[in-house]
Amino acid sequence: MSLILAIETSCDETAAAVIEDGHRIRSNVVASQIELHRPYGGVFPEIASRQHVFDIVPVVEAALAEAGVSWEQLAALAVTRGPGLAGSLLVGVNAAKAIAWSRGLPILAMNHLEGHLYSNWLDEGGKIAAAAITRPSPAELDAAGQAFPLLVLIVSGGHSELVLMRGHGRYARLGATLDDAAGEAFDKVARLLGLSYPGGPAVQRAAEGGNPAAFDFPRALTHYAIQPEHRFNFSFSGLKTAVLRQVRELGGDPAVLPIADLAASFQAAVVDVLVRKTADAAQAYGVSRICVCGGVAANQALRQAVTERLPVPASIPPFFLCTDNAAMIGAAAHYRLLSDGPSALDFDVEPNLALQFDL
Ligand code: KG4
Ligand code: ZN
Repeated sequence: MSLILAIETSCDETAAAVIEDGHRIRSNVVASQIELHRPYGGVFPEIASRQHVFDIVPVVEAALAEAGVSWEQLAALAVTRGPGLAGSLLVGVNAAKAIAWSRGLPILAMNHLEGHLYSNWLDEGGKIAAAAITRPSPAELDAAGQAFPLLVLIVSGGHSELVLMRGHGRYARLGATLDDAAGEAFDKVARLLGLSYPGGPAVQRAAEGGNPAAFDFPRALTHYAIQPEHRFNFSFSGLKTAVLRQVRELGGDPAVLPIADLAASFQAAVVDVLVRKTADAAQAYGVSRICVCGGVAANQALRQAVTERLPVPASIPPFFLCTDNAAMIGAAAHYRLLSDGPSALDFDVEPNLALQFDL
């Protein structure tokens, strides 16, 4: 049995988790800062890093206590080194280095995006966490030696990427966003509709009961004549501008705007683009399985479209593993430890870190 303690502080969640053998969640503690940032309408970086300093020790202690695991039982420690906010990443990385050095534990410097991807490998005490959509999970396929190649759609606050995964840690980028990420579009549109932070869940709530066909918002880079190099790329900034223009045309007063219809039509446009491109990529690369992950994967409309509109079985983690957590970092670290071994202690935070593409 291999137990990894993982730490994640890349944005506004202080998180620690203990993961067994890359799959099983022994504990998963997340201290959210949402209420602290709400008055500012977004994450206030200095407040985020200061709160991480307050929370990191109790969160790590709680993760160990909940798992019923002592320091001596750990095989390694994992921590997110990027991408994310520099000041936030520093708190987790320095805490992890101090623990690794003082306890003599191997350390793994992890990529947050790779963590999101591996959220599809997690289960909880034998119950498959990625069961939200279709079984078997990647963990089970993995055990049967048939997991790869997989198509992965990562949709978070900072990234929208289509990735072909040919093996553990082996990625090829098929496409990415040319401007705003999907989550960023949700957050910006929420603001211009007068909805509260965080924007994604607020737009989803506002869209309930709205007509997704009320406004015909643009689906960028999906037309037939698209240049081949943009076939799997995304662009959401034009969509955001289209919503802004529509809001102005309607007079701009949030009290009289058809918020539900605007939110539902915007959400439908994002989901439509994500699902169409994912379906096209699955066909183009002949994959037999798709994994969807990242904060936007918590969106109910996307979850439903993933079950109904993709050509091959897709897994999507349960709601609590879509947004930032440390369990996913522990799962990714398990495979990284097996393939590359531990990191040297002198690594630094990397706010703009990308996935390592080798194909
Ligand atoms: O993965 P995540 O927690 O943090 C990053 O790594 O960025 O993703 C956060 C993003 C935010 O933009 C948030 O608005 C979006 O995920 N999000 C959602 C939903 N829940 C979170 N977007 C749409 N619908 C949701 N239910
Ligand atoms: Zn994230």
